[in-house]
Amino acid sequence: MTTVLDGNAVSEQIRETLGSCVDQLGDAGVTPGLATVLMSDDAASETYVRMKRRACDELGVESVHREIDPDAPADELFETVSALNEDPAVHGILVQMPVPDHVDRRRVLRSIAPAKDVDGFHPENVGRLVAGHPRFKPCTPHGIQKLLEVAGVDPEGTDAVVVGRSDIVGKPMVNLLIQKAPGGNATVTVCHSRTDDLASHTRRADIVIAAAGYPELVDGSMLSEGVVVIDVGVNRVDADTEKGYELVGDVEFDSAREKASVITPVPGGVGPMTITMLLYNTVRAASMLEDVEVSGLAEAAAWGDEDG
Ligand code: GUN
Repeated sequence: MTTVLDGNAVSEQIRETLGSCVDQLGDAGVTPGLATVLMSDDAASETYVRMKRRACDELGVESVHREIDPDAPADELFETVSALNEDPAVHGILVQMPVPDHVDRRRVLRSIAPAKDVDGFHPENVGRLVAGHPRFKPCTPHGIQKLLEVAGVDPEGTDAVVVGRSDIVGKPMVNLLIQKAPGGNATVTVCHSRTDDLASHTRRADIVIAAAGYPELVDGSMLSEGVVVIDVGVNRVDADTEKGYELVGDVEFDSAREKASVITPVPGGVGPMTITMLLYNTVRAASMLEDVEVSGLAEAAAWGDEDG
């Protein structure tokens, strides 16, 4: 029997918990605020930002949105972030990636006030994560930790293979899995585009986390019986559908399911969890910045592990 993890159902439960936290902040006169900044006309980025804003509305988090022409000078983005850093109604700031080529991506990440960096991408927050006392765990890896917890999969002592080394998913995922902390203690192998013989690594794994951005890169022949498969990929591939495309993961679902004890679908697996953990980080940012203690917030975190 294979368990197909329902990221929407898990998200719904966490968002209920977060709802009570938002109420407590409201009792203290605080409305959490998340600012989204979009400097792109990429359709997928527009969709992601729209979904994040809708999730805020549904939870009672104030959503502030700034859109910048992708051809505008980079300074327009830096001035926007600077104003949001100073805005007391804004507790979290997210600049949707990727930004245009003429904008220095690393400078963008450095420009966000670390205490409002709900993505967890500022070098100070990356450093804290690596050092083992994260302020904000990056949303997708944190959502994966939470899914594993709910599925009863403890990474401790397992061989985990992370496929992909992005700053957004692969690297922070590795850092969470190797922490001497609940939800960590795994032995981790990182595979990427220059890895020789990917299957030789994935076949040894108890947990495979596929986050490479290649459609159906991992299939059942590359997995061992009973493996836990987490699929982070969201790839648009041409298809004879109304939209002209369909979404597929980095895992070939049907053949992988034959081998897996636990697997996440695409869509409806990791995706909703990313947004849920963004809401969690925003509520937490508001609680910390406004110095309002909120009970029950730790329940929303993976293994109840809040830090910072
Ligand atoms: N682009 C793709 N994923 C993300 C994310 O989690 N945060 C931001 N800011 N941009 C992204």
